[in-house]
Amino acid sequence: MNSGRRFYVTTPIYYVNDIPHIGHAYTTIAADILARYNRLKGNEVFFLTGTDEHGQKVDKAAKEKGKTPKEHADIMVENFKGLWKKLNVSNDAFIRTTDTEHIKTVQGLMQMLFDRGEIEKRSYAGWYCVPDERFWTEKDLIEGNCPDCGRPVEQIHEENYFFLMSKYQGRLIEYIEEKNPGYILPETRKNEVLGFLKNNTLGDLCISRPKQRLAWGIPLPFDDNFVTYVWFDALVNYFSATRYLIPHAENAKLGDFWWPANHHIIGKDILTTHAVYWSTMLMGLNLPLPKNIFAHGWWTVDGKKMSKSIGNVVDPNEMVDKYGVDAFRYFLFREVPFGLDGDFSEDALIRRINTDLANDLGNLLSRFLTMAEKYFDGRIEIPKGDTTELNEFARMCIYGILNVQKQDFWDRLQFNFILENIWAIIGEANNHIAQKEPWKLAKSNPAELKTVIFNIWNALRLTALAIYPFMPETSEKMWKQLGLRSVKEEAIFEWDWKPSYEIKVSKGEQLFPRIEKKEEKQKIEQKEKKVTEGVKELIAIDDFAKVELRVGKVVAAEKVEKSEKLLKLKVDIGSEERQIVAGIAKAYTPDDLTGKKIVVVTNLKPAKLMGIESHGMLLAATDEEGNMSILALDREVRQGARVK
Ligand code: MSP
Repeated sequence: MNSGRRFYVTTPIYYVNDIPHIGHAYTTIAADILARYNRLKGNEVFFLTGTDEHGQKVDKAAKEKGKTPKEHADIMVENFKGLWKKLNVSNDAFIRTTDTEHIKTVQGLMQMLFDRGEIEKRSYAGWYCVPDERFWTEKDLIEGNCPDCGRPVEQIHEENYFFLMSKYQGRLIEYIEEKNPGYILPETRKNEVLGFLKNNTLGDLCISRPKQRLAWGIPLPFDDNFVTYVWFDALVNYFSATRYLIPHAENAKLGDFWWPANHHIIGKDILTTHAVYWSTMLMGLNLPLPKNIFAHGWWTVDGKKMSKSIGNVVDPNEMVDKYGVDAFRYFLFREVPFGLDGDFSEDALIRRINTDLANDLGNLLSRFLTMAEKYFDGRIEIPKGDTTELNEFARMCIYGILNVQKQDFWDRLQFNFILENIWAIIGEANNHIAQKEPWKLAKSNPAELKTVIFNIWNALRLTALAIYPFMPETSEKMWKQLGLRSVKEEAIFEWDWKPSYEIKVSKGEQLFPRIEKKEEKQKIEQKEKKVTEGVKELIAIDDFAKVELRVGKVVAAEKVEKSEKLLKLKVDIGSEERQIVAGIAKAYTPDDLTGKKIVVVTNLKPAKLMGIESHGMLLAATDEEGNMSILALDREVRQGARVK
């Protein structure tokens, strides 16, 4: 099935001055999830990643190793390629900014801007931060140092070429704010960019470096004494790849159809270069802008910023070796809503493996397979006709699988909602087994047992399909054990799908063995001891940490019809807006709440109250007399902030 829709997703191109860490893995896996999902949906996909190989940082790193920049890049690029393989990243192409075709494209576009009068030569004096490769004005400096990294800056006088970026300020504001509300996501990042653009005068962008200062770059086509500023060169990669790396590139001008990209996925630190530099460069070139730029948050490690000097840089290779590729991929996107900052710890990863993966998913599959083999020799009878009629369980699974495919979740990269909905199906399936007690039906009602086994099989099939973008290996393993042939060819997100062949399931290896860490065992033992000693059970900090509390701002509130107690709220929790239904109508009117900052539990399973979906819960105190007070904040803190 090929719907013919094209989907183009990119990652940043990574500097080859360093080895990849969890941050690089994060962005690249996010793009992989989108690419895989779109392929399942029959779209034609182009997923691009690559490396940024010019500029001062790479030049310096190479010199330190006694190599030429290109020799250095050739070695370092393998670290990225190797990691993507290990992480099951399905990129369609890998661009290197030292590719001849890329260099030609950069020069072509540069010439085009020059010819259109968008570039001007000026003499320039400014403060330059060598490691960041950025100029600063006097007033930007903090105590004479770079405002970004705090390192000393150098005073530089030179002639350079400038792209006349300033003239696009108004157009860019209008583009982001009015014409394309989904251009920059999440919402908070968009507001940051708009705030910056509205409160500052945009300068012009210095797009050259004199060769005598830095030779490692793409020569300007109109002045051989200069090379291209590394960010100009790097940003163009997204476009130049559509000229020579797209599928069937040999069929000439197809590239036009692949631009613009659907998503540029980046980290929050490189938002300005994308949202401002790249967007205005494209305006200057009269090319369409990408459909979306999504800036994700940063990972800290055990609460601290990742840094080589602390020695806490997380090596994704090591995590995969220790815990498996899918557990790592799952954790990154389940633990923290994409867009917010998050904290990485192996303890948290182990917890996710043991609960969500081993208990909820792994056990469900293995219990099901045991029963199917025991009662029916592994054969699954697919009922004829409509299997949803009078089937409450099927209806819940259908609801879940529709949510998994909700375009808005995918457009806004709300991976955690998608995963929550998959886990809702898994939860329903586990409940269904507990309620139906198939071991009793085996004696009392063999016909119903057959239906139950089919239902669970079907729920597992849809689960296996839905997890494919996130955990491709696990998906394939489940698919096989469920007696199915090919995930990609049978990617049908419908409950009533009927395979054209006999289904015989067979139990294979366990998906996720529990990880018993020594400390974990000790903790469990201690807890058990306390209980047996009759001490009131206390919770550990880890138990508390499972509840995700965040600051939310009520942006709208209304009464729920026919209910005295309920209010329906729209709450901005930083990364997104949530609908929350709360039983506070007796104490608060909608007007009392609009604009208020409150505390919200953001990782609750969605629930329905009076038929209205609620995605979270707000915190409130009630005393014996029924007086109620919601928890509000007494100082200004931004929505999305974690409460702990
Ligand atoms: N070469 C530029 C990008 C050019 S794109 C046209 C670059 N490269 S980088 O290698 O330094 O960074 C790549 C990405 O890693 C960025 O998106 C950055 O946000 C991300 N991360 C670096 N550290 C991170 C964390 N601690 N956590 C999450 N992502 C982080 O910038």
